[in-house]
Amino acid sequence: MEKSLNRNIIWNALDIILFNRLSLILFYSFWFLVGILALRKSQNALSAVQYVKSNSDSVSLNSIESSSEFEKLIAVLDEKYPRPPAFFLLNQYALNMTDNFLCNTGTLEGAHERFVFVTLDEIARDSISRRWPNIQVFHWPTPSLYKPFSFAEGAYQTIYLLRSNLALALIKNCSWKTFITFRGKSFWMMQQDTFWRKSIFDLNYEDDMSYDAIFDQLGDGDDSLRKEWVNGANWFIRANDATQFFFERLSEKLAHWYTPDVGIMIHQCNTWDKPKCAYIPYNVTYSWEWMFSDQSNPPYLLQLDCETNGGTKLMQLGRYGFHFVNPDGTCNNDKIASAKSRMENGTVEVQMTKTLPSWGRLQFKLYWYITEYLLWIPILGEYMRPYLVLTGFILMITI
Ligand SMILES: *[C@@H]1O[C@H](CO)[C@@H](O)[C@H](O)[C@H]1NC(C)=O
Ligand SMILES: *[C@@H]1O[C@H](CO)[C@@H](O)[C@H](O)[C@H]1NC(C)=O
Ligand SMILES: *[C@@H]1O[C@H](CO)[C@@H](O)[C@H](O)[C@H]1NC(C)=O
Ligand SMILES: *[C@@H]1O[C@H](CO)[C@@H](O)[C@H](O)[C@H]1NC(C)=O
Repeated sequence: MEKSLNRNIIWNALDIILFNRLSLILFYSFWFLVGILALRKSQNALSAVQYVKSNSDSVSLNSIESSSEFEKLIAVLDEKYPRPPAFFLLNQYALNMTDNFLCNTGTLEGAHERFVFVTLDEIARDSISRRWPNIQVFHWPTPSLYKPFSFAEGAYQTIYLLRSNLALALIKNCSWKTFITFRGKSFWMMQQDTFWRKSIFDLNYEDDMSYDAIFDQLGDGDDSLRKEWVNGANWFIRANDATQFFFERLSEKLAHWYTPDVGIMIHQCNTWDKPKCAYIPYNVTYSWEWMFSDQSNPPYLLQLDCETNGGTKLMQLGRYGFHFVNPDGTCNNDKIASAKSRMENGTVEVQMTKTLPSWGRLQFKLYWYITEYLLWIPILGEYMRPYLVLTGFILMITI
């Protein structure tokens, strides 16, 4: 009796010591880890903002407006573009993706005539001009963008600043060609990591005067809590005073804050009266999430940005059947036709990656899950809606 009581006491004491120690150790390691992550985040944020600051001159509005390259561009737009142009940006590391995209859109009547490719380095310019001589190029050599970049880095922010300033330059530029003065240039801003089943230009979004800007939206369908959130891959801007102010503020914020440009756009669209923002329906543009839905209502444009890493993107697309460039560089039109019909009959195969999701996809899924959870909170969720994406970079601890 006595012995076992003693043993009990000893065990209990041991238990308490061990348990306390362990929980203390866990407690400290947890906060240690959080501290390290917070430090890493702050360092990333500081260096990204620093990078944008030290390179903002080369992508400034003033440098664009006063360049002879822009003057030439305006002349070409006046002469050859009866409908608003669509701008795409690339450096040499996006060439393969761009080739793939131009093969795809080459099968659609009149699409290439609407495009302008903004090349950020000479290799990109020369390669596009050689492979696609009919594609209009706007060459804007930007040394700070001469490297592959990934999400949430300084270079990524710099390219968004360039995009925003180019938008401003276009909106502000008046054309005096005829007796009528056109108020600036309306335009599309697009990304080439997208599969075009049909041409979005057929839908004449430019002619609907009920909005000033129309964006593709995030989320996975009309019930999604993320609907009417700007996705930012494909958008149309009508040039007017309201959109000019919109991009002036966007440029200012991008130059000083570590936040995704879509976060700012979502915030401004959701809290400002003007410009009037509209959203392209899901049967016209949809993110990669469509492939993991029941694949009904195939969109015109399917954005394939399921990877955070540009290098593996094309490999991933190959697996889904969206890689159309032959080894000799020619376009495989049969494969394009087959991809279109597989989309139309809802049989795009994603089996392989369904069981083995990539790290990039997993991260996005996780963050969207957390986001939807936050938005779902009554009252508070609605309140957070315009602001959540602004904090995106900071809260994404894995990036
Ligand atoms: C439009 O751009 C052209 C070419 O850069 C320039 O000459 C003209 O002054 C610009 N117009 C306005 C109103 O900014
Ligand atoms: C682009 O494709 C070519 C040929 O398939 C390959 O050799 C090259 O490494 C690729 N470049 C990039 C940046 O992925
Ligand atoms: C998309 O869906 C809407 C609403 O159901 C419909 O009015 C519209 O015609 C559809 N657009 C296309 C391009 O199919
Ligand atoms: C769907 O597309 C695939 C690939 O083109 C084809 O083999 C299949 O027969 C199509 N199915 C239907 C129901 O049309």
